[in-house]
Formats: sequence, structure tokens, C-alpha cells
Amino acid sequence: MTADLRILLVGGGGREHALAWKLAQSPLVEHIWVAPGNGGTARGLKNVENVSIDSADFPSLVNFAVEKGVNLVVPGPEQPLVDGIETQFRKVGIPCFGPSEAAARMEGSKTFSKDFMKKHNIPTAEYENFTSFEKAKAYVASVNHDVVIKASGLAAGKGVLLPTTKEEAYDALKEIMEDRAFGDAGDEVVIEELLEGDELSILALSDGYTAIDLPPAQDHKRIFDGDNGPNTGGMGTYAPAPVATAAIIDEIRKTIIQPTIDGMRKDGFPFVGMLFTGIMLTTAGPKVLEYNVRFGDPETQSILPLLSKDTDLAEIFLACAEHRLDAIDIKITKQFGVTVVGSAGGYPGSYKKNEKIVIDPLESDDTFIFHAGTSLTKEGQLVSAGGRVIAASAVADTLEEAVKKAYAGISKIHLNNMHYRKDIAYRAFRDVKTNGTKSGAPAFTYASAGVDIAEGNSLVERIKPVVKATARPGADAELGGFGGLFDLKAAGFKDALIVAATDGIGTKVKIAQASGINDTVGIDLVAMNVNDLIVQGAEPLMFLDYYACSKLEIDVAADFVKGVAEGCLRSGSALVGGETAEMPGIYHDGEYDAGGTAIGAVERGQTLPNFDAMAAGDVLLGLASDGVHSNGFSLVRKIIEHAGLKYTDSAPWDQSTTVQESLLTPTRIYVKSVLPAIKQQLILGMAHITGGGLLENTPRMLPKHLAASIDASTWDVLPVFKWLGKTGNVPKEDILQTLNLGIGMVVAAKADNVDKLKRILTSGGEKVFTIGKLVEAATGKPRCTVSNVEELY
Ligand code: AMP
Ligand code: GLY
Repeated sequence: MTADLRILLVGGGGREHALAWKLAQSPLVEHIWVAPGNGGTARGLKNVENVSIDSADFPSLVNFAVEKGVNLVVPGPEQPLVDGIETQFRKVGIPCFGPSEAAARMEGSKTFSKDFMKKHNIPTAEYENFTSFEKAKAYVASVNHDVVIKASGLAAGKGVLLPTTKEEAYDALKEIMEDRAFGDAGDEVVIEELLEGDELSILALSDGYTAIDLPPAQDHKRIFDGDNGPNTGGMGTYAPAPVATAAIIDEIRKTIIQPTIDGMRKDGFPFVGMLFTGIMLTTAGPKVLEYNVRFGDPETQSILPLLSKDTDLAEIFLACAEHRLDAIDIKITKQFGVTVVGSAGGYPGSYKKNEKIVIDPLESDDTFIFHAGTSLTKEGQLVSAGGRVIAASAVADTLEEAVKKAYAGISKIHLNNMHYRKDIAYRAFRDVKTNGTKSGAPAFTYASAGVDIAEGNSLVERIKPVVKATARPGADAELGGFGGLFDLKAAGFKDALIVAATDGIGTKVKIAQASGINDTVGIDLVAMNVNDLIVQGAEPLMFLDYYACSKLEIDVAADFVKGVAEGCLRSGSALVGGETAEMPGIYHDGEYDAGGTAIGAVERGQTLPNFDAMAAGDVLLGLASDGVHSNGFSLVRKIIEHAGLKYTDSAPWDQSTTVQESLLTPTRIYVKSVLPAIKQQLILGMAHITGGGLLENTPRMLPKHLAASIDASTWDVLPVFKWLGKTGNVPKEDILQTLNLGIGMVVAAKADNVDKLKRILTSGGEKVFTIGKLVEAATGKPRCTVSNVEELY
């Protein structure tokens, strides 16, 4: 093999740096000139140098190529291709990896490409082309679907407008067609139906006959996290995107890529080069959003490092130019690639250039810094020279790992006011629905795998230890482990019955949301469930949570999971799974709701309540609550509002704390203190005091012939209840039915066992009161009476 390839690479972005990097590894390559290149191609790559010729200056490029004996031209960006660079080099006999001017119309003219797709039955959004403003307006008025308005010509990725109302659509048409916001590119517009779904970038190499697609990528076009803010050239990518399953890729090949390549050849403009198809995965199948006739930026930076080390990009480019791509073996590793783009502060608006850039040494061989808008000064200082300045790319065996490495990479780059998105690849993690079987942890613990790593404080890192700490004999609770499985024997059960309970937090979440304290309601969630299990005599073993919101806010979700994990710890449950649902429109902005399920077990014969053993004269013990717990918050919020209190005010019932902190005190979990007493069979029955208060919950543990007689003067009614009762002027009967008044759990026991039971519960940390006894039920009388209610407040 002789190294006689002399390549002229046209362009100067991150894509071109990545291309130069991969091409330079080819044993066929003797030399690469990059015109004009950037600070990354200026030094550091073997046999690569910049030549300062503008990519639009075809005569100079051709002269230079002829003079240097260039024998392969690789145009990077679309503009020179659309302007016919391929023809210029064909004329002087130098092969070009890139489409002809005719073929480049697939990107250069949206009306052209839409008409092409229609002709060849390639799935795409419904559309009409217009040159008349009035006709375009009339069309918008006539359709009853949302529209996308596109300037037909090249507009540097900015010529696509997504109006949300008809009025906005008319304004958009005026902007493009009358105000000429995109110049000539807007002489003609395409009005398309709005497609919804996940977007994919499919990059396929072609020689005009064969097409070979590279790993499917997803781009992040908006400037800010969560896909907010204006569009950019692309702020980060990852590949392969897990949404693109083998079946989807197969469908894309059969219905889109191959028909495109065949259609172009049949229509007389065969495609040679890189065909980059933007695809929307709609519910009706994959549909084409647009064609690009060149590599994507920053898709290329994530994809090229996935080609195996012995896959020779120069050989591939030559084979495409010589129409023999079917003879080439392209090997792709089974890894994931991730790219995080660093942009100049202000981009895509105005921004500064000529800012100094310093890059610390990288710690990993699998991490690459690809420059885009950088240049070297005469003194050899690296400075910024564009909006998208530089990117860190990394490959690893898992997407999570690759995200981590890419963020570690970008943290080595120092540039004043550099901006980068913290959520690259979040969609991939969002799309992994675990349901407790696949990963053993709520999906959002992955959702931000990359998010906070750059700040050294990633969500996964934050959650991992807390989730893992909930592991217990019988179940793992490790991220990525097999959750949802429980070995009852390993936990010491012999002949167990399974018990399950499910519940939510109620409107207490509203106080958490309003106050921004989100790390305690997860404890409430677990408490509400496990307290319902323990009253059946069951030991909680596993927990799964469900978190739903309009828009996933990573910090909030992370805090919430922390609370859930803490609740699991307090109750001895393994957090084995969960689900995050992001559902705009179902909840209001900034709101979330959560539910959960606890699963436990009890030995046969030990379930509670033990109706047969209960009799009149048995004693009722009350276990102190920690506050309002998770019931009655609709009433509580009304009273707080009526009193004109803000959640941040200091609590009138307890000056040492604020309203929000006091109200958010988590529901007490009674599991660990009560379990030993259950095992010693000292307990006849228990009632968890939730909605309905003492009056309605106590009878739930009693056989029909018994009733509860409770004396309200026997325990300390907590100050918060007194204040609520007084301030809200709440009738006593009403408050008894709504709030726990200081008793979170009622326990029935034989009088003989009370001392022993009290000792066990007290040593388990409970405050125990003897609050009443069981009596024979009388027909027509309530099953629970509370005396001395006047004393409440
Ligand atoms: P284009 O340059 O045509 O790919 O458009 C740029 C971006 O606008 C795309 O990546 C999509 O996010 C969005 N877009 C374009 N066409 C549509 C469509 N028909 N429906 C929904 N989104 C679209
Ligand atoms: N990353 C999108 C593009 O290259 O067009």
C-alpha cells in the first residue's frame, strides 16, 4: 500500500477537524490540506496543515490542488457543494467525495427535495410550495393542521419557522416572503404539516448505487437545556440513539435511504458523498424532514470515533468517488459516541471573538477535542473565532459512560463565558422506561447522567449511593441491576404471603413545589405505603415509585428520588424500580405528582388484624405523629391562605421554624419500631391514621362487634393542630375526621401485654400514649367515639 493520497479538505468547522483526524489515520494518506481549517487542524495532526483559502474561492482552490498534486477533494460544508465545487474539480480530473451541483439541490432547494420525495413516494410531511404571498396565506387559512414554514433556499439552518397559531403563520410568511428575512432563500416557501416525534440524523455514505448508513445520531439544536431557546447549528450529539431500533433502521433503509439513492440515479443526478437525512420518527413511521448533502456537524464528531481503528475513511471516500462502495468493509464498534459543543457566550446571537482558549491535558484516550471556531494567532496562541467554538467528544461502552467522559473532556477547556448544554443525550435516558425490570432505578436517575457531571455533581452520582443504600437481603437496589425481584427465602421467610399497597402524596406536593423543598415528599410517599403494609402485619420489602410532570426538571426529580430512597431506608425497603413520565399538558408547568407501590410479606397465620383474639377491654395505644403527615392538606392550605401567611413566614405554632418546613415534616414511618412487636405477637391490630382521621381509621382494624373508645385528653395534641383548629375555626368533629391531631398510628393489644409492648415501642423511638380501649359495638352507634374533644384546642 502506498501512501500517495493527497487530500484537499474544504471547510473549517468541527466536522472538518473530525474528518481530518480520521483521514490522517489512513495508511493511504500522504498529506492533507484543510482550507481554511481552524486551530485544531493547524497543529497536532500528523501530515495535516491549513491553507488559507476561502471555501468559496473555487479558482484558488483548484489552482492550489493542481499545483500540489491533490488527488482527492473532500468538501465539508453544503455551500460549496450547492455552488458546484464538484464540477470545478471534475473539470481538472480530480475526484471529489461529494455530490454534483445537480445532486446538491436536495439540500439547496427545499421545494426541489419535496417534489423529489413526492415523485418517489418517500415518506415526508404533507406540503405545498408557494412563490405568491397571497396564495401561501390562503393555503395556511385553509388547512386544519399545524404548519411549518420553510424558506426554500439555504438559510444557514435558520430558515425554518414553527408558528403555533395562524396569526404567527401569517407573520412568518410575511417575514420570509415580503420582509425577505432570508434574502433570496425566501423567494419560494414550503409550507409543511408539522410532524411530531423524535428526530434522527441518518448519515449514509453513497457511491450512487450502494448506501451504507452510519450509527443513527440525535442532535440537540436548541441553545439551552431541555431544548429551549433559539436554534443553533447543533449543541451536541450522541450515537447510536437507542430510539432507532434495528427495525426502525431497517424501515428507514427500505423506505427512505435506498429509494432516495435509486431515485436520484434514475432522475439523472446520482448521489456520491454523504447523504445526511433528517428524519422524524412519527407515529405513522419515519418521515423525512430534510436532506443534507454533507456530513452533519456535530454528528460527525460523535460518529467517526465509532468507526473501528482499521476502518479507513480515505479508502471509503475514494471507493465512493469511484462507484465501488460495495467492495468496502466498514466496521463499526459496539460503542457509543457523545459530543458536547462549547459555544461563545451570546451565541447564536452576537458574541465575542479572539478570546483566549486554554485546554488542560485529557485523561482518557477515548476523549477527543474537536475545534470549530478557533484559530491560532501568529504567536501560536489558541483563540476563539466563531460561535460554536469547540467540542469534546468521547466514546465508551455505554452511553452513560460516554456522556460522562465527554463532560469530563469539556471541563478541560477554559474559555471566558463558554456555554455548553448540560443535558446532552437526555432523550436517550428519558426514553429508557425501566418499570423496575430493566434497570432497577427510576428512569430519571439516568435521564441526567450527563447533566451534572460537568459540575462534579451528577444526578446519577447523587442518586447512586442513596439508591444502593436501600439494598437489603433478598433484593439488590443497584443502578443497572435486576430490580423488582425478591428472594423471600434469603430474607428469612418460610411460608409467606405477599402484601401490596399503593398510594400517593396528595396535595402536600403543592407545598413542596411552592417552597422548592422537594427532598422530603418522597419520604411521605414511602410512608403512606409502608404504614399501610405494616398494619397488615407485613414487613415492607420492595418499593417502586412513579413520578409524573409536565416538564422534567432534573434537580427537582433528583431531590424527589432522594426522599424516596430515604423513605426506603427508614422502612427497610429496597428501591427496586420506578418510572418517570414527562407529560406536557397533563400537568401545569412546574408541577409534578407522584405515586408509589410497596410490596411486603408476612408469614402465614401472622396477618393483622387478629379479629379472633380481639375482645372488649383490649387496650388502645396511640403512637405520636410527627405533624400533619400527608392528609388534610387541602384544608391546611385553605387555613394558611385565610391567615394571610406565606410559606416562608415563621410558623405561628412554632417560632423555631417556617410554615413550609413545619408542614413538610415527613410522615412518620412506623415500620422498624413496630415490627419486633408484631413478630412477638404482642399486637392485635393497627390502624394507620390517614384521611378520615381517628374516627374513620380506627374501626378499620376492628371486627364488627367491637368499637373504639378514645379519650382525647390522653395525648399531647401538637401545637400545629391547635393553631389550625383555632385559626380556621374548624368544628372539632371535622378536624377529627381530617387531621391526625398528633396520633399517627393506633395499636390494639391485650392489657397484659401493654407494658412489654410499650417498652419495645419506646425503645424503637416511639412516643406511646394509652388512648383508650375496645368496647362492644352498639347498633346504630359510631364504631369510634372520642371523648374530651373540648380539650383539643
Ligand atoms: P430542516 O432544516 O428542514 O431540518 O428544519 C430544521 C428543524 O425544524 C428540524 O430539525 C426540525 O426540528 C424542525 N422541522 C422541520 N420540518 C418540520 C416538520 N415538518 N415538522 C416538525 N418539525 C420540523
Ligand atoms: N447538526 C445538523 C447539521 O449538521 O445540519
